[in-house]
Amino acid sequence: MDFALQVMVFLTFLALVSVFSMEPVMADRHSRQWTNDKGLNSLGNEDLVTDLPGQPAVDFRHYAGYVTVNEENGRALFYWFYEATTQPNEKPLVLWLNGGPGCSSVGYGATQEIGPFIVDTDGHGLKFNPYSWNREANMLFLESPVGVGFSYSNTTSDYEKLGDDFTANDNYAFLHKWFLKFPSYRKRIFYIAGESYAGKYVPELAEVIYDKNKDPSLFIDLRGILLGNPETCDADDWRGLVDYAWSHAVVSDETHKIIRENCDFYSEDPWSNDNCSDAVGEVLDQYKRIDIYSLYTSVCTKTSKRSDDNSMQVLFKRTSRMVSDQSNLFHSVFAFSVWQQFSLL
Ligand SMILES: *[C@@H]1O[C@H](CO)[C@@H](O)[C@H](O)[C@H]1NC(C)=O
Ligand SMILES: *[C@@H]1O[C@H](CO)[C@@H](O)[C@H](O)[C@H]1NC(C)=O
Repeated sequence: MDFALQVMVFLTFLALVSVFSMEPVMADRHSRQWTNDKGLNSLGNEDLVTDLPGQPAVDFRHYAGYVTVNEENGRALFYWFYEATTQPNEKPLVLWLNGGPGCSSVGYGATQEIGPFIVDTDGHGLKFNPYSWNREANMLFLESPVGVGFSYSNTTSDYEKLGDDFTANDNYAFLHKWFLKFPSYRKRIFYIAGESYAGKYVPELAEVIYDKNKDPSLFIDLRGILLGNPETCDADDWRGLVDYAWSHAVVSDETHKIIRENCDFYSEDPWSNDNCSDAVGEVLDQYKRIDIYSLYTSVCTKTSKRSDDNSMQVLFKRTSRMVSDQSNLFHSVFAFSVWQQFSLL
């Protein structure tokens, strides 16, 4: 699919959630270490990318490198940071997280979706993306947790401990260390954005920030979160899927009414109600003919990358495991169908 369309649709899916009202209080005695406003210190400059093969010429600076989040175990997270194309000092900082779990923010978000350099050139350099989000913000792409993309741990047992809390805490440690490298961003207006499984990562990191912000010396000026195509919890995700379909005329008022009256997505097994199963089946059926990511454009055909991707088998396995406690085959088929659509980004 054309990239511009993907971005448009992605924006359509985007929900901007204003998080918490926060008092931007800084305690003078603590803030000194953070408030070098002269720009980047030498640590940040070490990560300046000066020679990226095949890179189109651009006017903004970008940086990439590691931030150690745990010295003892040797855990380091990899980031790629693009300053805004114009007036970076005036623009907010946006942290971007892909989901998965296990999806690389560099390999996917930055270089296939919303970053300035897109890998779509059959090995012949990089393509400039005129719709890059760094037109509006300073974009920080983070690969997390360890084991994803270039991020790693030197302690093998860390990989057994991975989970949402572990990820949120490492991401939080990353941010503080990163601000030490880039002190001019320390007090910047800050947003966290992401897609798919980052529907969990993003609010979970926001919550850690919110809690830690009670200590003024740690204050991060988080103003909101943005989620595209998020996985939050099954019940809300199903409701979101059917409401979105209905509110965009993908299904009729009648089908939506049947769903409203018959589906209890919070129950153990919503699909045991045949009226619900059939009506939700009708929604999914429409998405065979309509591209769920791009309702108003032609549907991608079987020859498209996404549908013959062999990751589908992985998805199916994963989905089967997820629903193995349900004997209902119909649920598996449903879940597969939805995962197929949404993929594991
Ligand atoms: C991990 O181990 C390598 C090899 O000893 C070392 O170079 C690297 O700095 C270590 N990483 C961290 C984050 O400590
Ligand atoms: C399904 O819909 C039919 C027709 O409206 C209704 O008679 C029936 O009670 C419904 N079944 C359930 C399980 O709610």
